[in-house]
Amino acid sequence: MKIIIINGPNLNLLGKRENDIYGDESFHDFFDRIQKKYESVHLEHFQSNIEGVLIDKLQEVGYSYDGIILNAAAYTHTSVGIGDVVKAITTPVVEVHISNTFAREEFRHSSFISPNAKGIILGFGLQSYELALQSFLASE
Ligand code: DQA
Repeated sequence: MKIIIINGPNLNLLGKRENDIYGDESFHDFFDRIQKKYESVHLEHFQSNIEGVLIDKLQEVGYSYDGIILNAAAYTHTSVGIGDVVKAITTPVVEVHISNTFAREEFRHSSFISPNAKGIILGFGLQSYELALQSFLASE
């Protein structure tokens, strides 16, 4: 099973960004941990701060991978282009957020991704990614 985690802007700062909201662990450390825990899964990670680069990556993997775990971060709430590519590709996308976006500012309550996501997991910290991964394994 081939799964990719795609992270959007500022998620490269995890561990040193608003720790009260996003926690203390770097994504690198977290990713190492889940890669070891789920060693039977071919698990990749990609991060970019640039909208078009994220769209290119989604196009590249979106017809051949078994699953995409997407945290588009701030672009979730602003990007028609990312919403459109999620609709265009055939690989199922699980939308994740570290924080409970509905408990935060109003502008974080909307998502261009949700209407075309297979499902949405939010508010569980970095565990949101692991729950998304488990959802793909459960539907194998
Ligand atoms: C986020 C929530 C977004 O509103 C925010 O812009 C992020 C991270 C989350 O994972 O909680 O950068 O996607």
